[in-house]
Amino acid sequence: MMKPVLGIETSCDETAAAVVDGEGGILAEAVLSQLSEHAPFGGVVPEIAARTHLRYLPDQVRQTMSRAGVGFADLGGIAATCGPGLIGGLIVGCQFAKGVAIAHHLPFVAVNHLEAHALTARLPGLVEGGAPFPYLLFLLSGGHSQCIAVTGVGQHVRLGGTVDDAVGEAFDKVAKLLGLDWPGGPALEKIATEGDPASHAFPRPMMRRAGCDLSFSGLKTAVAQTVLRMGSDLTRALRADIAASFQKAVVDVLADRATHAMDMMRGRFPQADLLVVAGGVASNASVRAGLAAAAASRGFRLVAPPVRLCSDNAVMVAWTGVERLRRGWTDGMDTGARPRWPLDALEAVPA
Ligand code: KG4
Ligand code: ZN
Repeated sequence: MMKPVLGIETSCDETAAAVVDGEGGILAEAVLSQLSEHAPFGGVVPEIAARTHLRYLPDQVRQTMSRAGVGFADLGGIAATCGPGLIGGLIVGCQFAKGVAIAHHLPFVAVNHLEAHALTARLPGLVEGGAPFPYLLFLLSGGHSQCIAVTGVGQHVRLGGTVDDAVGEAFDKVAKLLGLDWPGGPALEKIATEGDPASHAFPRPMMRRAGCDLSFSGLKTAVAQTVLRMGSDLTRALRADIAASFQKAVVDVLADRATHAMDMMRGRFPQADLLVVAGGVASNASVRAGLAAAAASRGFRLVAPPVRLCSDNAVMVAWTGVERLRRGWTDGMDTGARPRWPLDALEAVPA
């Protein structure tokens, strides 16, 4: 049986560590959100993120290891997110992991953050026995919005993605227009519950277009113009109506794009029947409901990991380490942090 793997995640504003055993059992996990550090600036400040990772990562790792009840000598390897993301934080996590690996003579795995989101569905407990390949991944985060066919470890086919803003970014920008606190997604979902989703007929970009590309800038602009027109008349009730209508437009678009993506998936892989969602926006209840209905209409099953495994975490990083180490796939100490690292460029594990 494979020994446990330590995972480290520092690609954005979460300082996270986790220890996962060879079967995907979570021995310990911790996520330190840097919300209070960045909130005064209304968004993630890269230099502050890097410094905060540097400050808290060593303790985060020590405490997680101690809660897992394992020493470094008990580990089968160390996995760290090396990209894509904010370069300062990536350097902190990646170099830290390599240092520990050298000191304790452990294998090192350089993890692609997007692959980590993709492989979360293979953790035991979400789908009986872990999601079998191939499956369709709909990644909906603050930095990425993509439809990907996950055909193996290190094997992905990008079916489509956003041509402008990521969906989480759209939530954050609209929330800002409505004067809600950062990060905007959760705040917008909350106020939307008080509003009428049919009150504003916002555009649904890309709806019914061929393929599964996404676009959100037109929708965002339409909301901005509505807000501008209302000026100082913007009461809480009106803001709730705008939030609910915006969210409804996003859900309609996502459901439509997912439907196209499922058809594309079936065209290439007739046996595929799982739609997996990941990323912070996948924690939105209306998004989940819309995607569940879309999946059902195509005979797919929606797999939505628990919210803490949808947003950035280190369990997915440690688990990706397990999946790669199992196949004898490790990375050299000359592997560095990569701010850009598209999934298509990921090397497949040799058969
Ligand atoms: O995956 P994630 O935690 O971080 C990365 O971007 O990698 O996603 C964060 C994004 C933010 O844009 C946030 O506003 C959005 O996910 N988000 C939500 C919700 N929770 C988080 N958007 C809509 N509804 C939510 N409940
Ligand atoms: Zn992420």
